[in-house]
Amino acid sequence: MEDCPAQRLHVRELSEEERTKLEEDINVISDFKQNKLELEAKKNWDLFYKRNTTKFFKDRHWTTREFEELTSSCDNSDDHAESRRRVIFEVGCGVGNFMFPLLEEDPHTYFYACDFSPRAVDFVKSNPLYNSDRCTAFPCDITQDDITATVPPACVDITTLIFVLSAIHPEKMVQAIENVAKTLKPGGVLLIRDYGLYDYAMLRFSKGHKLSENFYVRQDGTRAFYFSLEKLNSIMSQAGLLQIQSSYIERATVNKKEGIHVPRIFVQGKYRKASSAGDVLGTSDRHSDSNTSMESSRPPGCADSCESDKLSVCSPSSGLSTVNGTVGAEDISSVVENLTLHSNADADDR
Ligand SMILES: C[S@@+](CC[C@H](N)C(=O)[O-])C[C@H]1O[C@@H](n2cnc3c(N)ncnc32)[C@H](O)[C@@H]1O
Repeated sequence: MEDCPAQRLHVRELSEEERTKLEEDINVISDFKQNKLELEAKKNWDLFYKRNTTKFFKDRHWTTREFEELTSSCDNSDDHAESRRRVIFEVGCGVGNFMFPLLEEDPHTYFYACDFSPRAVDFVKSNPLYNSDRCTAFPCDITQDDITATVPPACVDITTLIFVLSAIHPEKMVQAIENVAKTLKPGGVLLIRDYGLYDYAMLRFSKGHKLSENFYVRQDGTRAFYFSLEKLNSIMSQAGLLQIQSSYIERATVNKKEGIHVPRIFVQGKYRKASSAGDVLGTSDRHSDSNTSMESSRPPGCADSCESDKLSVCSPSSGLSTVNGTVGAEDISSVVENLTLHSNADADDR
């Protein structure tokens, strides 16, 4: 298996054949079926975890290489490290493939993790690495539930959404981000990685799976939106977050054994909650040389963050995805595997 990571700021060009395929896919699924899919979104993801248990997604060990904010910055010998431990909130945590590797790496991070699939949350809680002194996993639909019933407002240093927003109906994306942003501290950062426009998986959908522009349903009833950077940045901006950085991540993965070439496109971004009323400019240029700031007073129930004044921001040219050319290798193998598993289902057109 080989992978060739690359990063770009513009959407990739489609071939003539690809363009024709997308242009000819004009019929969207009926309103009745679309409403049913929305009503049954939670059930469909729960059934996904019933079928696949913890075996579908692989541990996401690439995250600290992609997002430097996630690397532990606490000195373990520091007497005050415990009282200043940072808080990460993983939204749409699935079975914990993002959280558990980080929990193991960094003893000074407290995790909140939520998912609307009760089964996924149960899998997280029954993981031997789950420790209620260090994390709280809870069921929550971020499009409608009151997250602050579990996570105190303005308590979180870093919120992450890894392939989650794409599963949400486009009309509910802004309110979902607003909802999770309530728990971010002023100056706190939201990190996101998700499916990008013209990703291989998007181009594989046969007719009868389109819900709306760039939004599709898989055979198992779970849905996927494919983001342009403009769309992603607009959602974050409407939700009141300031853009630090965003880019397309492009991967060409070749599985020689299977003879499969899988061109993947993801979007990846970092956004920040304003730290004061006047803190409104958040373009990557403005922030590429500056550290984000945090307010010093913390709400009750919230530990101060050891990361609070160290959330550094890198410019697009510093390379989100390229670390020795091997970023996300584990994820790539999982992607190919997932395409086989998940997309076999997609390809089984009814
Ligand atoms: C593609 S999976 C990714 C899981 C996990 N983030 C990972 O990277 O392994 C998408 C997850 O989002 C969850 N999800 C979808 N819509 C949600 C919602 N409205 N509220 C909370 N979780 C949701 C699903 O249950 C599923 O676990």
